[in-house]
Amino acid sequence: MASKSKILFIGGTGYIGKFIVEASAKAGHSTYVLVRETTLSNPAKSKVIENFKALGVNFVLGDLYNHESLVKAIKQVDVVISTVGHAQLADQGKIIAAIKKAGNVKRFFPSEFGNDVDRVHAVEPAKSAFETKAKIRRAVEAEGIPYTYVSSNFFAGYFLPTLNQPGASSPPRDKVVILGDGNPKAIFNKEDDIGTYTIRAVDDPRTLNKVLYIRPPANTISFNELVSLWEKKIGKTLERIYVPEEQLLKNIQEAVVPLNVILSIGHSVFVKGDHTNFEIEPSFGVEATALYPDVKYTTVEEYLNQFV
Ligand SMILES: NC(=O)c1ccc[n+]([C@@H]2O[C@H](COP(=O)([O-])OP(=O)(O)OC[C@H]3O[C@@H](n4cnc5c(N)ncnc54)[C@H](OP(=O)(O)O)[C@@H]3O)[C@@H](O)[C@H]2O)c1
Repeated sequence: MASKSKILFIGGTGYIGKFIVEASAKAGHSTYVLVRETTLSNPAKSKVIENFKALGVNFVLGDLYNHESLVKAIKQVDVVISTVGHAQLADQGKIIAAIKKAGNVKRFFPSEFGNDVDRVHAVEPAKSAFETKAKIRRAVEAEGIPYTYVSSNFFAGYFLPTLNQPGASSPPRDKVVILGDGNPKAIFNKEDDIGTYTIRAVDDPRTLNKVLYIRPPANTISFNELVSLWEKKIGKTLERIYVPEEQLLKNIQEAVVPLNVILSIGHSVFVKGDHTNFEIEPSFGVEATALYPDVKYTTVEEYLNQFV
């Protein structure tokens, strides 16, 4: 069997990046993380850095905005995974340019990890954010760089601890606000599982030039089903307050950053059903739990237990 690819992460110390870096190191890939000096000396990052050290991760000093440092880092590996955040999404053209210059990359995973941005029905400001990711896809394809786009849907840790109640710090126990009629199915995945599936895809020919969708059956549930699941756990019925689409669109327009971003993503997923309103066709996509049935993922049902 061919040896495991060496992987470079750009944005590896970020929210989702740290889970995928950990999965990479634990799966036995030689794992490299591009870091800035300021990150290494940032007290807020010390836990992540120490964990990476314990896992045997290699640090490569560099910066997204320093072309030479990117090329040098990329030349050391086979696969590049970008997990840069919102502010750097549009600048991933710099990674594409460095991959072209380096000339050795077998696969690139741009920073995606959400909706399939080619299949969304979003309003602003989510619309522009999705378009930025779609533009990066087109640039990757135009350059002929082998790729995998990971459509991980929702990070469990962003939505389940409050049952998608912006501003709350725990799940609701009396009233719950539901966007739309609560019936479209959304998908919630634990971050460790997103890491595991992403790393499984790295050397898998079935995920080459495809979208890898993470759609675990047990985690594909509507807002109404999510509330019912929670009600069963706490043995209490909540008052359900539904926000019709028209009202939600008004709320989005009146809200400021970051609430307008959160609400517009909620509109795409909970009202338009953008996680699940299309079939995965073999021509463009594959589904992670079907490819890797041996991975035991955390279900939403299990995840909620910690909050009861
Ligand atoms: N599906 C969902 O529920 C969901 C939720 C949130 C985000 N996302 C998506 O997940 C992806 C990653 O977002 P995130 O929130 O995890 O990112 P994040 O926490 O903001 O992390 C950004 C990373 O980029 C690094 N970085 C910033 N500037 C850099 C530079 N000039 N050179 C090199 N590295 C630089 C940061 O370094 P430092 O560690 O030093 O800051 C950090 O490691 C995005 O595509 C985002 O849209 C999805």
